[in-house]
Amino acid sequence: MKRAFAVSGSGIFLFTLCVGTVFAQPSGKAIVDNACSACHSIKRVNEANKNAAEWESTLDRMIKKGAKVKPEERAAVLQYLKTLNK
Ligand code: HEC
Repeated sequence: MKRAFAVSGSGIFLFTLCVGTVFAQPSGKAIVDNACSACHSIKRVNEANKNAAEWESTLDRMIKKGAKVKPEERAAVLQYLKTLNK
């Protein structure tokens, strides 16, 4: 009985940990899908073929225009954008 309680207790702990991590760090894709489709189609982002440096300057240009990417989300967004390169 005691043992079963301990096992389910650690399950809840792990579950909380996972959910906490997901909410603390929204994935780059989720941010891009949301923030980068406000002014133009997300296709424009998905079809762009840029290297890391080009994405960095494009992202900063979009942020200046008003894209809602917070400074702490910038790294995750760049990480995701780089995976779009063909
Ligand atoms: C406030 C409006 C706005 C938002 C939000 C926005 N964009 Fe743009 N985007 C534009 C405009 C206007 C253009 C066309 C003029 C230009 O290229 O500067 C453009 C063009 C582009 C282009 C094609 C031009 C190029 O340099 O290849 C890409 C790629 C792009 N945006 C990516 C993004 C990404 C990634 C995001 C999210 C971080 C984003 N945009 C969010 C306004 C926006």
